[in-house]
This record gives sequence, structure tokens and C-alpha cells, in this order.
Amino acid sequence: MNDGAILLLTDRPDRSAALETILNTVGRCEVVAGDGKLSLGTRPIAIVADLTLTRRESVGRLRAVLPVGQATPQIVSQVANPVAGRVVRIPVICLMRSTSDQDLRQARDLGATVCLPAYTAPHLVAQVIRDQVSARSETASGVSGQGIVRATEALTGLFAAAREGGDMALGVVEAGLTPILAAVREGGLTQWLDTVWTHDDATYQHCLLVAGVSAQFVNFLQFREQDRQHFVRAALLHDLGKARIPQAILNKPGRLDADEMAIMRTHPVIGYEILRDSGCDAATLSAVRHHHEMLDGSGYPDGLAGSAIGDTVRLLTICDIYAALTERRSYKPPMPMRDALAVLESMDTKLEAGLVRCFGDAMSATTA
Ligand SMILES: [Fe+2]
Ligand SMILES: [Fe+2]
Repeated sequence: MNDGAILLLTDRPDRSAALETILNTVGRCEVVAGDGKLSLGTRPIAIVADLTLTRRESVGRLRAVLPVGQATPQIVSQVANPVAGRVVRIPVICLMRSTSDQDLRQARDLGATVCLPAYTAPHLVAQVIRDQVSARSETASGVSGQGIVRATEALTGLFAAAREGGDMALGVVEAGLTPILAAVREGGLTQWLDTVWTHDDATYQHCLLVAGVSAQFVNFLQFREQDRQHFVRAALLHDLGKARIPQAILNKPGRLDADEMAIMRTHPVIGYEILRDSGCDAATLSAVRHHHEMLDGSGYPDGLAGSAIGDTVRLLTICDIYAALTERRSYKPPMPMRDALAVLESMDTKLEAGLVRCFGDAMSATTA
């Protein structure tokens, strides 16, 4: 990124230093605090609005720096920019003090391309900017970038709510499903994985990886569109319970000891209980609770076996194990696809062999 600047509009100068530092790793960042003015000639390529949008002056400040036509009504752009005939939108990340439906709608109307909670870690804001800018500059990778951004939005909001016992806005997940399926179908699983691996949060990376692998699997199986969406939703949500597992355990480099493993193994029930109280559908709840169950009864938390484990769970468990084997960590290299598939095949008392073979075909189809 060597042209234009990332504008950081802020009314919280105490936070702007950390954000500015990390945004400068993506592109040149210009901070505009309070009533400050832009440098002459600054052309924003992306905007981070760390503003209280319920204040009229904040709304005015954001509108003043947006490209013509980015904020609704869209018809304005077509009048103002008849040659282009369409809006040239730039990434606008709004850091929201409140994420009520009304506030999110207002941010969208103001031209926000992504809304993140105000307390989102600066490195994640930078990652979203990076994804959005690259999604707009490269048509080929754009489809993956959009899918990742939508999925990251969903995960960020849901994990934060799960951690703090807040409202689970499940609607945001729905908005991420079609972009994920489209990204994997049009851009290919390999491109999706390349983008996902730039995420430095191990849990989000894993969920995005499982979602991408799941999308590839159900696209390959030619499920009906609605069933594809249900499956990818279960994949995105399957480890939500990890929101309440200590980071020291989640991110421990290497094997967990027995006590740590016991804590880690609570995550399916935690996720299930969080989602059950949010009105989630039964199939997704079952996938979240049972994705570590094995056909021979050796899994957890309920020790289910054989026919007690439903089809969705069987499919998801295969995707989950494959993702865990192939993901990159600072302490281990990714296992090659062929080796990971061999591990799955060796688990023939635990996983359904026919589904594993089919899964292998689906993964191999990505490299054909
Ligand atoms: Fe899990
Ligand atoms: Fe998992």
C-alpha cells in the first residue's frame, strides 16, 4: 500500500497511539483527533472511525472524508459521478461503542464496510483493513477477502459476547455464510487457506479454517444451498465455547497437561449452553456439543457412539480434525494434506470410512 493514507478518525486519543502504530504496518496512517483537519491533499484509501456516532459532529466528521456516494442514499453517487456510474467504495471500519441493530444500521448508512466492537484488539482492526484493501485491489483474491471479513466480523462479535455474557447476535453469522461459500467456490480453498493463515488469533484462524474446509466439502457434495449454509454456520460456531477457555490454555505452545486438557474439554458444553440460551436451532446445537464425539464411543462430552451421532456431526468432526492437523502454529509446521488424510483414514473405528474417503476426494479436488 503506497498511495493515499489510512485515516484514523478518533475521539478517543488515549487509544489512538496503539492503533496508529499497528495501522502504519498496513499503510501510512494519518490520525485526525478531535476537530483536527486533514493534511492538504490526503486521499484516504481506508478509514477507521473510532467515533461516537450518536454525536452529530462525529457523523459530520465521517461524512466529510468519505468518497462521494459511499454513504447512502446511493443515488447521490450516480448524480455526482455519472462517468463512473457506480460508487467506488473504500474500506470504512467503524469501531462501535454500541452494537444495537439501530446503531449498526446507522453505521452502514454512513458507509461502513465493517463494524467491529470498540474494544477490538488493534491487530485485528489492522488485519481487517489489510483484508479489505487487498479484497478491493485484487479481483481474484477479493472474493476470499470479503468472505474472511464477513466471517471475522461474525466471530469477533460472537466471541466477545460469549466471553462477557452479552447478547448473541446470531444474525451476523447469517451474513457471513454466503460470502464464505462463494469465496471457496470461486476463489478455491487454497486461496481461502492462504488468507486465513494470516490471522494471528489461533482460535479465529481455526474456526475460519474449519468453515472453509466445510464449505469445500458441502460444495463438493452438492448439498442444497440452504443445507450448505447450515453446515458452514455450524462450522463457524463449533468452538464458540473456547471464548471462555483461558488464553494460556488455548494458546499454549505444545501439549496440554491433564488438568489443562480437562478444562479444554469443557468447550463443547459451554458453547452448547451459550447458543441454547440464544435460541439457536437444534442441528447447530448438536454439532456444537458433539463435534468431539467418536463412533466407537471414545469421544466427549457425552460418550455417544454409532447411530447416536448424526450425519452433520460426523461430517463436521472430519472437517475439524483435518483443520487441526493442517493448521500452522509457531511450534509446529502444517501437516501436508496427504498425511492428514492418512491420519483420518487410520481413525476408521472413530470416523465413518465412507465419509472420510469422500472428504479426501473433496480436498483433492482443490489441488486438481
Ligand atoms: Fe472443538
Ligand atoms: Fe475445532
